[in-house]
Amino acid sequence: MKIKEQWSLPNLKEAARRTRSAVERVDHYAIPANTFDLGVGKTYHISTYGCQANQRDSETIAGILETIGFKPAEDLEHVDVIILNTCAIRQNAEEKVLGEIGNFKRLYRSNKDLVIGVCGCMSQEDSFVKTILEKYPQVRLLFGTHNIQDLPSMLYDAMVKHEKVIKIYSKEGEVYENLPVKRFEHHKAWVNIMYGCDKFCTYCIVPYTRGKQRSRYMSEILKEVRQLKEEGYKEITLLGQNVNAYGKDLEEPIDFATLLEEVAKIGIPRIRFMTSHPWDFTNEMVDVIAKYDNIMPFIHLPVQSGDDEILKRMGRRYSAESYMRLYKKIVDTIPNVAISTDIIVGFPNESDEAFENTLELVRQCQFDNAFTFIYSPRPGTPAAKMEDEIDEETKRQRLYRLNEVWNGYALEKNKAYIGKTVKVLVDGSSKRKEDVYSGYTETNKLVNFSGTNIEPGDLVDVYITDAKTFSLDGKAV
Ligand code: SAH
Ligand code: SF4
Ligand code: F3S
Repeated sequence: MKIKEQWSLPNLKEAARRTRSAVERVDHYAIPANTFDLGVGKTYHISTYGCQANQRDSETIAGILETIGFKPAEDLEHVDVIILNTCAIRQNAEEKVLGEIGNFKRLYRSNKDLVIGVCGCMSQEDSFVKTILEKYPQVRLLFGTHNIQDLPSMLYDAMVKHEKVIKIYSKEGEVYENLPVKRFEHHKAWVNIMYGCDKFCTYCIVPYTRGKQRSRYMSEILKEVRQLKEEGYKEITLLGQNVNAYGKDLEEPIDFATLLEEVAKIGIPRIRFMTSHPWDFTNEMVDVIAKYDNIMPFIHLPVQSGDDEILKRMGRRYSAESYMRLYKKIVDTIPNVAISTDIIVGFPNESDEAFENTLELVRQCQFDNAFTFIYSPRPGTPAAKMEDEIDEETKRQRLYRLNEVWNGYALEKNKAYIGKTVKVLVDGSSKRKEDVYSGYTETNKLVNFSGTNIEPGDLVDVYITDAKTFSLDGKAV
């Protein structure tokens, strides 16, 4: 592999560095004059993997591309720019991306001007970039999570100068305001409140791929929310890897409860937030959620494990008992709240007993929903160096058992909705059947229901007639 001087390649060690230097804030965005009409008459396609942070980044990428003239591609046969916004959280997320890049080879063969670009969390990993350089010559643009704003000039070099462009910075990162955005949904919007993560859970790659925790100023967030309200948005989701830690890094610290309350007062019908780390969840937050009708009674509260020894080795900084105390406080204070979680099985040397402790916690909490994963070693993280004698088959069986247990509770919780009328924010109608719509309850349950003359973005009352593990059925009243 020949490394060119003008390339910036990622470095995980550098990415893990945390200094006390103030966060640079950039609030003026200028497009280079030579790129103003770079995309006129041309089209783009974006594939997005991973979490909501990536979804929101793709909206920025689309916003930038459309500012310089690109239009969304209607068919891939004639597309000019393809961007893959990748996720590095687990190995299988990585494999999917490589599969898709492989599929695009055919398009590249018939159109050598096609720019295939790869960005997102995987591009922050040196091993991945090496693989791309060695095996995927069709990728002509690689850029990191800190380099999105430079897309116009990078595309100029790729499209006009026909260069291979690699620009991946490994650093703590800045806060950019006022970047262009093309929102993909019309009644629901993502609002970043912070970037990065400083928690360094031992299994997790995110603090390396996304930089240090950087909160946006509250004034900027409120300005964005007010504008979304004026534009008619019905629901916003405040985004951060750790929303509860919001504001701790600002020169004048402020807490998430205060932000949430100010956002609620603006009066958007539905406010959600994710993700909440149990460690920073304060009583004030619980009270604010309970106080405002437009803060949805739904909390995603990843527990990861129900075993204290594993939690300690994960670096999560809470015990199973303190998690359950918080859980109880939330359930007792917020009427009809629904709680979901994330759980990892097969963390290095997780014993049978440790796994049983996780099952026990699930029995106690009876979650509404859960995202369960087999631990996937991420090179460069501390857990990847831990000894692990548990075989894959045992891990798979644990995942299966865990899923059986939580699915049972989820179904029970959903059955309790039968015969009730709930408010649903409508996403759209079913592709298969006319007059069948879908949307979500305040508690984030998917509802498929029948009705007439209903539009996406409507808030409708739905009578629930049946319940499944992952959804409810009903009819509009
Ligand atoms: N910031 C969020 C989580 C973001 S990642 C939080 O702390 O709650 C989403 C989920 O992916 C995590 O909650 C965890 O359950 C899972 N995950 C992260 N790294 C993983 C790994 N190496 N292997 C398996 N699952 C992982
Ligand atoms: Fe990863 Fe932990 Fe940060 Fe969540 S809090 S993003 S799991 S390091
Ligand atoms: Fe994946 Fe990066 Fe999000 S690793 S989960 S896309 S922060």
